[in-house]
Amino acid sequence: MSTQAQTAQVNDPVYPVPAEFAKTAHIDAAKYQEMYAQSINDSEGFWAEQGKRLDWIKPYTQVKDVNFNFGEVNIKWFFDGTLNVAHNCIDRHLATRGDQTAIIFEPDSPETPAQHITYNQLHDKVSRMANVLRSQGVTKGDRVIIYLPMIPEAAYAMLACARIGAIHSIVFAGFSPDALANRINDCGAKVVITSDEAPRGGRMTPLKSNTDAALLHCSDKVRCLVVKHTGGQTTWIDGRDIDVKALMEHASPDCPVEEMNAEDPLFILYTSGSTGKPKGVVHCSGGYLVYASMTQELVFDYHEGDVYWCTADVGWVTGHSYIVYGPLANGATTLMFEGVPTYPDAGRFWAVCEKHKVNQFYTAPTAIRSLMGKGTEFVEKYDLSSIKVLGTVGEPINPEAWNWYNDVVGKGKAPIVDTWWQTETGGHLLTPLPGATALKPGSATTPFFGVKPVVLEPTTAEVLEGATEGVLCIADSWPGQMRTVWGDHERFQETYFQQYKGYYFSGDGCRRDEDGYYWITGRVDDVINVSGHRMGTAEVESALVAHAKVAEAAVVGYPHSLKGQGIYAYVTLMNGVEPSDELRAELEKWVRTEIGPIAKPDLIQWAPNLPKTRSGKIMRRILRKIAENDFGALGDTSTLAEPGCVDELIENRMNRG
Ligand code: WTA
Repeated sequence: MSTQAQTAQVNDPVYPVPAEFAKTAHIDAAKYQEMYAQSINDSEGFWAEQGKRLDWIKPYTQVKDVNFNFGEVNIKWFFDGTLNVAHNCIDRHLATRGDQTAIIFEPDSPETPAQHITYNQLHDKVSRMANVLRSQGVTKGDRVIIYLPMIPEAAYAMLACARIGAIHSIVFAGFSPDALANRINDCGAKVVITSDEAPRGGRMTPLKSNTDAALLHCSDKVRCLVVKHTGGQTTWIDGRDIDVKALMEHASPDCPVEEMNAEDPLFILYTSGSTGKPKGVVHCSGGYLVYASMTQELVFDYHEGDVYWCTADVGWVTGHSYIVYGPLANGATTLMFEGVPTYPDAGRFWAVCEKHKVNQFYTAPTAIRSLMGKGTEFVEKYDLSSIKVLGTVGEPINPEAWNWYNDVVGKGKAPIVDTWWQTETGGHLLTPLPGATALKPGSATTPFFGVKPVVLEPTTAEVLEGATEGVLCIADSWPGQMRTVWGDHERFQETYFQQYKGYYFSGDGCRRDEDGYYWITGRVDDVINVSGHRMGTAEVESALVAHAKVAEAAVVGYPHSLKGQGIYAYVTLMNGVEPSDELRAELEKWVRTEIGPIAKPDLIQWAPNLPKTRSGKIMRRILRKIAENDFGALGDTSTLAEPGCVDELIENRMNRG
């Protein structure tokens, strides 16, 4: 899919900002130009002003202390100020909007009534849960793992941690016990918060028994707080397992907030990279919240009273910034959806939009592509006239999906914000502002305030000007930027600041057109993007080689019509093991249990030999080409130890589409 986005060229259609929309928008084209110039020319002055969107306990006098030089990387924002994130997302709204809905909860089954949780109720629940955490010995700086479905308790848990200064780390409920255990151990969590089960699309994921399995590999001091959500049967270990809801009922609804430095960590979120195990991306309290709140308001043009829905899961960064922290910091009404877009049928998203009169709707291209295939009747049944802005995130959107979203869902009236950003960036970096930016389908358009994108020549690191193509780096910091990798600042520097000196390296390639618009062309490292989820090929490889029958594995991405990219695995079996369809199914199942369903290879090719250089390095470039079914131009294969194996791989390739 990324290749389709990439091929859109000079004669791209341009969709101007609807004049009516610009009139009431927070930011119009002139204001964008003016504010962007200021944000670059006087970065400190600009952000000193923007920081005021939060309540500070002790106001900052220092705005920015940034060094991008490899070996000395240091990023600090508002660093002598103190605040509390939960206070900013809840308490400060109580006087003016205590009875306004903070969270609309739409359960998996449309038969189960939705819940409307007011800011007053949110305050009550979060304070009680925070007191429960305190009663379990959790204090400032302690780590808490959250492994929950998309239920209000996930937001309560995040905010309860923020309230007492604990650092949360959410593990997506689709991850396996092994993945969960690795994260619990990496951050040294004291507590895991989970639920009995996670209903999705009518099916149950047994989260508590997954947690039981994970905890076998963790310190026996780790406590397990269980949200009884479905009431499903679970095993119970007295002394370790705690019924959170029962304790919350008896806990005090009064929980004073902890005063945190702007640079105290708010959360850790594990994400895949090109090498090794997932990294714990660290985001801090002050800068992150300023940035999440500002982007949520301006990118979606959120206005007082609007109902805003981001369909992501809180297990990913999008859920952190654009379901919980950004909207709640702005006093918004944010919708949390437990289910899936196709349950009970492919009209669910639109049924929910109609039911709750959603004004801003934010989803992933992969969801749009899958719904597009089901036909327009699922959309047309519903009244979508409340929708003012549409958004996408996670991967490039192909023009066909963009047009469908624009015409069928938005009826040509709702600007589409294609937001490019990353777990590392905390919030949007390249994005249209709906009242300011003319749109080109497939382009994430122009930088947000304070963001200085640069395009570099990949090998020489020369800065390329004008219309060009290369790797995407960012020349200066923005407040939402990650600060470090948990427990490994060296790895942070090596991953993002070593290759292109003086810049933050995004790992993405991009094209900049003659209008200065950016077009993301996809990852340039060994990370693939499957249905908008990041997956390190190295992770899938190490899961495969952990299987007793596998000698070696090489994993690459290939274009997939629904998922954007699919996972293509070349597997060399141990001597004497015969390939079979049963073994293929066994390996798929194996990867599901080692990492999670999202990592399951779409195609497995038996590869008795892998193309290697004489020094034994796997030539991934060749494997990628074969997986893409594009082996006409394999380039130079003369350095291969055994050039013959390439023909054999081509002959037996799995993707012939
Ligand atoms: C990709 C998700 C094109 C990109 C917020 C990036 C995108 C990776 C877009 C980060 C977009 C995200 N257009 N590509 N609008 N948004 N990406 O950390 O390759 O899960 O590096 O963060 O997704 O994925 P992550």
